[in-house]
Amino acid sequence: MVASTSLFLVYIKVITFLSCFSLQGLNLLDLATASPVVRGNGTDQQALLQFKAKITGDQLRILESWNSSFHFCQWRGVTCGRKHQRVTKLELQSLKLSGSLSPFIGNLSFLRELSLAGNSFYNEIPQEIGRLRRLEKLDLTNNSISGEIPSNLSACSKLTLVDMRSNQLTGEIPALLGLLSNLKSLILVNNSLRGSIPPSLGNLSSLEVLALLMNGLTGIIPESLGQLTNLLGFSVAGNAISGIVPVTMFNLSNIRDFDIGGNKIRGTLPSDLAINMPYIEFFSVAGNQISGQIPVSISNASNIQGSIPSSLGKCQNLLRMNLSHNNLSGPITPEVLGLPSLSIGLDLSSNYLTGELPFEIGKLKSLGVLDVSQNRLSGLLPNNLGNCVSLVKLLLNDNLFEGPIPSSLSSLRGLEVLDVSDNNLSGGVPEFLLIFKALKYLNLSFNDFEGVIPSEGVFKNASATFVEGNRKLCGGIPELHLSRCSSKRSSNTSLRVKIAIAIVILTVTLVLTCLLILRFRKKKEQPTTTWVENSLLQLSYQRILRATDGFSMQNLLGSGSFGSVYKGILEESGAVIAVKVLDLLNRGASRSFVAECEALKNIRHRNLVKVLTAISGVDYQGNDFKALVYEFMENGNLEDWLHPSVPTNGPGTARHLNFFQRVSVAIDIAHALEYMHHRCETSIIHCDLKPSNILLDKEMVGHVGDFGLVKLISADMLNYSNNLSSSLGLRGTIGYAPPEYGMGSELSTKGDVYSYGILLLEMFTGKRPTDERFKEGLNLHNFVKATLSKQVIEIVDPILLQESVQRGTTADITLNENGLGNDKHLHCLNLIMEIGLTCSAESPSERMDMGVAVTELCSIRDKFLRPTRLHRRIQTSKAAQSAGNVFLSEQTLRHFIIRVRFPLLSR
Ligand SMILES: *[C@@H]1O[C@H](CO)[C@@H](O)[C@H](O)[C@H]1NC(C)=O
Ligand SMILES: *[C@@H]1O[C@H](CO)[C@@H](O)[C@H](O)[C@H]1NC(C)=O
Ligand SMILES: *[C@@H]1O[C@H](CO)[C@@H](O)[C@H](O)[C@H]1NC(C)=O
Ligand SMILES: *[C@@H]1O[C@H](CO)[C@@H](O)[C@H](O)[C@H]1NC(C)=O
Ligand SMILES: *[C@@H]1O[C@H](CO)[C@@H](O)[C@H](O)[C@H]1NC(C)=O
Ligand SMILES: *[C@@H]1O[C@H](CO)[C@@H](O)[C@H](O)[C@H]1NC(C)=O
Ligand SMILES: *[C@@H]1O[C@H](CO)[C@@H](O)[C@H](O)[C@H]1NC(C)=O
Ligand SMILES: *[C@@H]1O[C@H](CO)[C@@H](O)[C@H](O)[C@H]1NC(C)=O
Repeated sequence: MVASTSLFLVYIKVITFLSCFSLQGLNLLDLATASPVVRGNGTDQQALLQFKAKITGDQLRILESWNSSFHFCQWRGVTCGRKHQRVTKLELQSLKLSGSLSPFIGNLSFLRELSLAGNSFYNEIPQEIGRLRRLEKLDLTNNSISGEIPSNLSACSKLTLVDMRSNQLTGEIPALLGLLSNLKSLILVNNSLRGSIPPSLGNLSSLEVLALLMNGLTGIIPESLGQLTNLLGFSVAGNAISGIVPVTMFNLSNIRDFDIGGNKIRGTLPSDLAINMPYIEFFSVAGNQISGQIPVSISNASNIQGSIPSSLGKCQNLLRMNLSHNNLSGPITPEVLGLPSLSIGLDLSSNYLTGELPFEIGKLKSLGVLDVSQNRLSGLLPNNLGNCVSLVKLLLNDNLFEGPIPSSLSSLRGLEVLDVSDNNLSGGVPEFLLIFKALKYLNLSFNDFEGVIPSEGVFKNASATFVEGNRKLCGGIPELHLSRCSSKRSSNTSLRVKIAIAIVILTVTLVLTCLLILRFRKKKEQPTTTWVENSLLQLSYQRILRATDGFSMQNLLGSGSFGSVYKGILEESGAVIAVKVLDLLNRGASRSFVAECEALKNIRHRNLVKVLTAISGVDYQGNDFKALVYEFMENGNLEDWLHPSVPTNGPGTARHLNFFQRVSVAIDIAHALEYMHHRCETSIIHCDLKPSNILLDKEMVGHVGDFGLVKLISADMLNYSNNLSSSLGLRGTIGYAPPEYGMGSELSTKGDVYSYGILLLEMFTGKRPTDERFKEGLNLHNFVKATLSKQVIEIVDPILLQESVQRGTTADITLNENGLGNDKHLHCLNLIMEIGLTCSAESPSERMDMGVAVTELCSIRDKFLRPTRLHRRIQTSKAAQSAGNVFLSEQTLRHFIIRVRFPLLSR
């Protein structure tokens, strides 16, 4: 079984179905011709005026018409019953109204429909709503309503629709809602609901849609839900639900959409479990803690999917299957692919699948997207892949595939995205790719392809084609910076042979002449640039010089012992890079250079800064020039975020990390270290972990960078022995280096753990370990330890205390006055500090393993700070500042599973 590292996924369902419920507007003509207005019964009018009185914002002056000049039945948004002149509908969707909901609304005793979607109503839903005994539809979507769902709603027994999506509801789902026997749709998506799903919902015998995704629900999926035989859509994705899926759920024979992704569901279902979901269209268990093997036959069962049981084969309507980001291992069994109905996508990415891609893949003739990336699949690519003629996206990257790209793939003419990067594929680049008109992205990098890269078709576009890391490729457009091809092979007629020989002789002569000339000119003019053997992306000294504007001060990002880092923009593509120019006067920097590149080439993790290439050459002065080119990290380093040099002028002026972001970054770093310590062939020690070496990308995801010391350690470990003394002068940075290194102990992963612990304490106290106050025995560790037992508030970073509630985001974690009153958040902070303390314990043996740290931090986050990744991205994306909107960048999409379908809701 694979250890379950929880993966965080985001589930977005952009649900656009409200329009389908849009109700007919008021027909004034009807009223005009109706019987004379019955005056007298003032209750409804009174209730409406009270409703109006609570409206604080009405930009569009909608409620101006609610005046005594007209009977209330003629007021905008109000519909009355014809006979009795009582209000039956109140529809005020998307009218920019703001205000709270008056309890008087409970007096509209004939109300059947209440729709206030898409406004800015805030505060709680009054319990008086329970008096609306005739209410059938309640739609409060896209507001800012907070507080708990009123339990009195359970008295509205006629309700068929309750939609409170995208608000800020808190508390638990009232168990009493189980009394709403007519309810067909219960949609509470994207709120901050807590607690578990009440088993009583299993009594909602009419229920067709139960959508609870994107909340903070915990507990298990109640077995009673298996009774909901009319259920068409079930989604609890993006919560923190644990346990196993009750087997009864797999008997929901009408279900079309089943989504439990992005939770903490684990466990094993019997592999012979019969799955009786004949109409299933969307099935996702992605992003849970499911581990084990895909069993013999997914085609006669489904998921939890220790192993994926069999019998999904009965699911002849399954359009899309998503099992990505789990811990699935073992081979992809042919039956998994035996679902000819799969037409949207099959996503098995980011698991631990091994073995070959079965030739049965060819059965999926209508499949649009096949993603098996980031697994451990090996062997040749099956010829039958060419049968999947509907493929638009084919992602095979980050596996161990070998051999050539089969020629049968020439039939995949609709292909828009082909990514085979990071495999061991070899042979020539297939010519048929030239004629793929739709191809917009072709990634062949980091393989062993050879021969000529054409210059037409997709290859014309340097921003669409990626070929780096294939040493034997040549030709192509200049922007690809491949070497020129040597003479072309020609066919075997004797004349051609003769011509060829003549050409060869001529060429040799020319080359020799050129070489001679070059030799003479070398020192005076153009410097030469040589490439390290495993150059990934070929960049010359000249290009780097241009990209960094001559290594100008404006482009200097920072400097350290090993050299200076510059920002650069490549002229041709506009790509932004970070270039570390090694200071070759520093002893050891040069010697270690190639070995460092080698080490970095073999480690790859989303929380490590990616090295794009290494350059070794001669500069214009004839001096050696060595540089490393990294992915550019837009948000700089953690040091600058934790300790901004510009003083803060009140909240909002200086950028700072909020509590949630800090936790997320802390987890990112922990993941990276865990990977380096335990998941690489040779255990890798970073040795210089500190805030300035943690970089933040556009999405505020943390990346561990600066492997200047890493490389030496790992290379030496390989070359010599594990008995590495830290007396090499490589002790990291004062404050972060563990005490034992100072005493000459050998380097160990526990040393990194110490630095991590210190870093964690720094992140949440805002105090550097090198702070002036820490001397004579007092250090950051002791300081936190001494204060923690008393009052965590005394040591927490003051910036976190200023943090204020932001409307429009879910589950905001704040440490303002209210927040700190909240035991839960304090508790959370305490737990994190405790991890920091254990990691930075004086004795290496007391320090926890990074694997444990990852698990503990994730569980703290999941317990207290749900929703997870989504939240971080929402907060950093401008677009998300309007409530309910969720936009994710293309890059984010690469890492996360996004779905934009929930057709059932639009019934
Ligand atoms: C008027 O409202 C009262 C409640 O205040 C209700 O009892 C009565 O039936 C209503 N009359 C009509 C004609 O709707
Ligand atoms: C009442 O509403 C109507 C329609 O909006 C408007 O034209 C009229 O001026 C209003 N009367 C008063 C007294 O506000
Ligand atoms: C209407 O609702 C309010 C507040 O819930 C209540 O005080 C009042 O008695 C109700 N009845 C009428 C006839 O307004
Ligand atoms: C709710 O917000 C989403 C996202 O902005 C939007 O797509 C949807 O149409 C809105 N629905 C309503 C009823 O306003
Ligand atoms: C809520 O429901 C209970 C039980 O039906 C009732 O006694 C109470 O008055 C209701 N509260 C409101 C505010 O309507
Ligand atoms: C479901 O309804 C039955 C009958 O009313 C009741 O006995 C049972 O307690 C309810 N179940 C739950 C979980 O509330
Ligand atoms: C599923 O339904 C079938 C037939 O209705 C029944 O025999 C079987 O026991 C059910 N399985 C579960 C797990 O409820
Ligand atoms: C289930 O899978 C097994 C093993 O592949 C197979 O023998 C059996 O026929 C399948 N049953 C159904 C109902 O598909």
